[in-house]
Amino acid sequence: MTGPRFGVNIDHVATIRNARGGAAPDPVRAALLAEKAGADGITAHLREDRRHIGDADIEALMAALTVPLNFEMAATQEMQTIALRHRPHAVCIVPEKREERTTEGGLGVAQDDNRLAGFIAPLREAGCRVSMFIEADPAQIEASKRIGAPVIELHTGNFCDAHLAGETERRDRELARLVEGVQIGTEAGLEVHLGHGLDFETARMVSSIPDVAELNIGHFLIGESVFIGLEEAMRRMRSAMDEGYAEGRTAA
Ligand code: PXP
Repeated sequence: MTGPRFGVNIDHVATIRNARGGAAPDPVRAALLAEKAGADGITAHLREDRRHIGDADIEALMAALTVPLNFEMAATQEMQTIALRHRPHAVCIVPEKREERTTEGGLGVAQDDNRLAGFIAPLREAGCRVSMFIEADPAQIEASKRIGAPVIELHTGNFCDAHLAGETERRDRELARLVEGVQIGTEAGLEVHLGHGLDFETARMVSSIPDVAELNIGHFLIGESVFIGLEEAMRRMRSAMDEGYAEGRTAA
């Protein structure tokens, strides 16, 4: 019994590389290793400030990968032009603030639906599977459907933060929001992904939610690979996801 697809985000291999400004460690090498170890897809976020992944990395990933690339980007003209040049399998639209350390919160699709509908149309026409990175909020899920996005990725950051803080009531509330969000999305005909801040325990928990198609996981895996290697970190993550999925099926 296998759980959701496993997307591996390799941004933070580039973060380490850029700390020294040289060529190592190479995120493409990490992506190829992840692919060999069973990743179903690779995710890379090209930020406006190029703090981790750079333009040449996207070029190299497109040339080297045999699994799909999920290209994360802000809804800007510059990024749209780059995505249309490469035509990756998937494009995940995320909010982006220069001052943030990581992607904080989801997109305000409901507040910006006209612009975003026009923004994603050419990406969809180019054959990219477009997903919107949103909070598990019914209004955002419905707006994503309305603008024609076939996929949503629900932000798991609050759930993971609550779990790490040992705040079990808040964690369970956040988990219930995710369960409801996945259900609303699925009933609306959307494919639902989850991501942000997941570790072995939280990935196991969210894998038990019915109908989750994909998890995207980066920072924890790259951190864990310092201690146990990327292949082993991925193997344990895959097992956690499959176990969580099996638990969900048993409970249903
Ligand atoms: N999904 C999306 C849309 C993201 O923006 C990120 C972070 O770049 C992730 C998943 C992965 O999050 P993390 O690195 O915390 O696992």
